[in-house]
Amino acid sequence: MGAPRILVTGARGQLGNELRRCLETMGAEAGPVPEAWRGAEADYVDYDALDIADAAAVDAWFSAHGPYDLVVNCAAVTNVDGCEADEEGAWRVNALGAQNVARAAGACGAKLVHVSTDYVFPGDEPGERVEGDPTGPVSAYGRTKLAGEELALAACPRCFVVRTAWLYGYVGRNFVKTMLRLGAERPSVTVVDDQLGNPTSANDLALNILRLALAEDYGVYHVTNNGTCSWADLAEAALSGAGLPCEVVRCTSEEYKAANPASADRPRFSSLRNAHLAEAVGDGMRPWREALDEYLSKLPELEG
Ligand SMILES: NC(=O)c1ccc[n+]([C@@H]2O[C@H](COP(=O)([O-])OP(=O)(O)OC[C@H]3O[C@@H](n4cnc5c(N)ncnc54)[C@H](OP(=O)(O)O)[C@@H]3O)[C@@H](O)[C@H]2O)c1
Repeated sequence: MGAPRILVTGARGQLGNELRRCLETMGAEAGPVPEAWRGAEADYVDYDALDIADAAAVDAWFSAHGPYDLVVNCAAVTNVDGCEADEEGAWRVNALGAQNVARAAGACGAKLVHVSTDYVFPGDEPGERVEGDPTGPVSAYGRTKLAGEELALAACPRCFVVRTAWLYGYVGRNFVKTMLRLGAERPSVTVVDDQLGNPTSANDLALNILRLALAEDYGVYHVTNNGTCSWADLAEAALSGAGLPCEVVRCTSEEYKAANPASADRPRFSSLRNAHLAEAVGDGMRPWREALDEYLSKLPELEG
């Protein structure tokens, strides 16, 4: 068999960049990349080269550049508050775009990893969610991503839906970087303390996507770093880890919403358990603090 051929969409984003780094170096922070991907020929495309919302453009791309062995769809509208203001625009990418990519991947026999979110859950019950738990998004982002999951699974027989959460990578915007920026400018930051989830390193996620993609057990997977905390806990860990003497003032979701009325509602309890991953290939995700500490130590060198 020749070198595996891979397509990564949304490649300029946080996860896309870490997938590229993993494949180019055959290494990740949590361990080596499986040997099966050595020498892989990957096409990394973003919005300007391939708009996944454009079905004809997706088909044309696959005709010109396919077939692929693996497609990883990282392209999405990820601005949760922005989706609230333009749900139709988010739907075109997060739902219909997911379907376009899944159809094309299915038609050429590729495996597909379609990336989704903890925000498909309502988050009204404490504890960790497993893959089969009932969904029920409370935001426009969550609704469009849930539709994307369903459409992708229906359109591609070899589809892994990978739900992740609270993602931070070296390239692009994320909560951790925002806290570090604010922490360098201000004596205190006010952060929500009653929403619980799993901060997740994009590098750890990229590695585990490449591990999972070698399996044949298709379906829905949760892939987040292990352990649960609040946004305020994450802010505190990031600020103290970076040595910034900025105080975290803890607030409730209601207080945050009163101060930011256009913000989307978010689930209270959206912590995920990597149950299916553990069963299929072993849970290769680290505790969140370990991953965050490594991220903070490498950020000055790798930030983009
Ligand atoms: N970030 C999180 O906290 C988080 C949490 C849970 C799940 N996820 C999911 O994880 C995946 C990767 O997230 P990420 O943080 O890496 O996202 P990201 O950094 O926002 O990257 C997404 C990329 O997709 C591109 N894109 C947007 N619309 C597109 C289109 N129509 N066609 C092609 N590309 C398009 C974006 O371009 P522009 O920047 O130019 O729009 C961006 O480069 C997404 O599916 C996301 O829903 C993320």
